[in-house]
Amino acid sequence: MKIARFSRIGFILAAAGSAVGLGNIWKFPYIAGENGGGAFVLIYLFTVMFIGFSIMIAEMLIGYLGRRDGVSSFETLAPSNKSLWKYGGFMGMAGLLIMTFYSVVIGWIFHYIFLALSALPASVSEAEVLFTGMLKDDISSQLIFHTIAFLLITTVLTRGIKGGIEKLNIILMPLLFVIVGGMFIYATTLDAFSQAWNFMFAPDWSKLNSDSFVTAVGHAFFTLSLGMGAILTYSASLPKKSNLVTSSLIVVALDTGIALLAGLMLFTFLYEYGAEPSAGPGLVFISLPAVFYEMGVLGNFFAVIFFLALAFAGLTSAVSLVEPMVQYGIERFKMSRLSASVAMGLFFYLIGIIALLSNTSAYSEALTFGGKNFFDWIDFITASIMLPLGGLIMSIFVGYIIEKERVESVLKPHLGFLFPIWYFSLRYVAPVALFIVMLNLMGILSL
Ligand code: PHE
Repeated sequence: MKIARFSRIGFILAAAGSAVGLGNIWKFPYIAGENGGGAFVLIYLFTVMFIGFSIMIAEMLIGYLGRRDGVSSFETLAPSNKSLWKYGGFMGMAGLLIMTFYSVVIGWIFHYIFLALSALPASVSEAEVLFTGMLKDDISSQLIFHTIAFLLITTVLTRGIKGGIEKLNIILMPLLFVIVGGMFIYATTLDAFSQAWNFMFAPDWSKLNSDSFVTAVGHAFFTLSLGMGAILTYSASLPKKSNLVTSSLIVVALDTGIALLAGLMLFTFLYEYGAEPSAGPGLVFISLPAVFYEMGVLGNFFAVIFFLALAFAGLTSAVSLVEPMVQYGIERFKMSRLSASVAMGLFFYLIGIIALLSNTSAYSEALTFGGKNFFDWIDFITASIMLPLGGLIMSIFVGYIIEKERVESVLKPHLGFLFPIWYFSLRYVAPVALFIVMLNLMGILSL
């Protein structure tokens, strides 16, 4: 089957659009806050550089050489006596699972754009009442906004790689960069900037435990969109002669840059107005709106553009979470793009409703097992288990299963003398680190 190809800049923006998402602006600051800042940030940066970057190149390579959906690409590239490898491609399911709660969170963001346009909560306690009121008791508004998110995402997907995904990213990503960049520059002028800097970069190792290690590695995968075939699927539509190394480098740099800028900016605002960095998932929905209120008119303006930027980040990632399974439906089941997009969209939409309900007072008890509700379980299973496992499969596949000559012929011209270092990291460093994460995880699970 012939797949439409991205333009060069279209690919970079789409891959960066996939990577830069709620993970960077919503999740990273709050998990960094919960895990004490600096030491956690360092582990995350270390993982991004030494594991994430290697696996990003490997995942791009599978798509670029395979030229098809995840399952078919694995199948095409595996030697004929190793056909079981095609099941590696089923990790695309993780994307649909992530989408169940991702779409609900995008819904909250839409809700907050409207809120920012009308009136912001005047204090943290008011903001808390507002957020928990929405989360726990306002099923209908959450449903409406989750539905809007589903409709938008599915519509873009029905338009395909060029007319849908590329276009969306070419419009939204530059806007996102301008908003985050602009707000960051403003933050550097405030007194609390140095305090935020210390919180993010001065490590306090006593705050860490093995749980934070798993979270940091899981987050590195989540934020780079690795391990479930999003990058693989986009790379199947790369222009013929592409430089995977430079592309990976740009995507990793943009993703890390935006996370650090967003983190520094948020913590500066929070410290400047006396709020706490360790507020958990409610950080951008509770502490931040109250801080924006304190800022007066400028705060109102910031609130609107901030939640818009968050929505842009979420939408450009969302399409990449669903596209692998859409592509799979098209290629393997000969579905039309329209029916594949609608089928996959409905899947995450309907299960997303269960995730949504699991946060509400009325249904949380029925939807909580083993100390976590459905929403948190999906987050945990996908980010902490499925993505690292997918990454492990990819590193072994490219490191041991595809012939070295083939890998070399594509990457050596761009990696040069760094090729052996990359190959070593892919064959030994990444699998060992991921294996340790898996062991740690079992420890956590059995606690
Ligand atoms: N990288 C996205 C984020 O940071 C989430 C994502 C994960 C997207 C996996 C695609 C694949 O929010």
